[in-house]
Amino acid sequence: MSIHTPKIEKKVTLTTIAKMKGVEPITMVTAYDALFAQLFDGEVEMILVGDSLNMSFLGKEDTLSATMDQMIYHTQAVCNGAKLPLIVLDMPFGSYTNPELAVKNATRCYQETNAQAVKIEGGKERAHIVEALTQNSIAVLGHIGLMPQFLRSDGGYKIRGKDAEDIASLVEDAIALEKAGAFAIVVEGVKKEAAKAITNAVSIPTIGIGAGNVTDGQVLVWSDMFGFFEAFKPKFVKQYMDGAKQIRQGLENYRNDVKSREFPSEETTY
Ligand code: KIV
Repeated sequence: MSIHTPKIEKKVTLTTIAKMKGVEPITMVTAYDALFAQLFDGEVEMILVGDSLNMSFLGKEDTLSATMDQMIYHTQAVCNGAKLPLIVLDMPFGSYTNPELAVKNATRCYQETNAQAVKIEGGKERAHIVEALTQNSIAVLGHIGLMPQFLRSDGGYKIRGKDAEDIASLVEDAIALEKAGAFAIVVEGVKKEAAKAITNAVSIPTIGIGAGNVTDGQVLVWSDMFGFFEAFKPKFVKQYMDGAKQIRQGLENYRNDVKSREFPSEETTY
């Protein structure tokens, strides 16, 4: 039996993450339950309890119907499973439409879970919300570029940073979030040049997803990276495992064993 040695041995804090910019790329994955969080413990610096769980866990078409109760429930599970990574709760659509509501909901996150930060989507237009949260001692991970919560109002998932004007606007977003007190920013679905300009413009780490290798870190949705989510595979996803195929193979073996009465064997019988 192999003894697994975790890569990270100390609790990751906001200070750890801040110090990594320009020194060592930051790894982040999503998790939605204690079982997988435990497997990720000590392997990545950050875990995001993403509202993507609404799609890959609950089977909905987009993230928009995720609720605060749902995010809290899954964050509690993840916090039970993983002790070392910095855990971030993704604030769901509609839970931070004004500063008061944002503070009220994010306060629940700190009171009902052990997450160290919340994530909210939006650039300069949401900087006042980030400021309200950070002024109330709640750490915020920003999220700019392609923002899944804007899916319906934007008319689809759109890659950003395709021209100089849009790159400048994204850079303004990042600077506004840094000024408002965000400790890092997820940069999703942007051209590599845009990700580079954003990363160079701020002194806080940028965490890319579909943004090339120029950001300070990377985040992937676990069910995408391990090949469990089969509905579609975005261009930016690298699959590190053939999860769905392996599960099907395992099930076929189980079915064959049951049908042939090879399972349970004497060994697995009292
Ligand atoms: O919900 C999520 O998983 C996310 C990542 C795609 C960054 O927001």
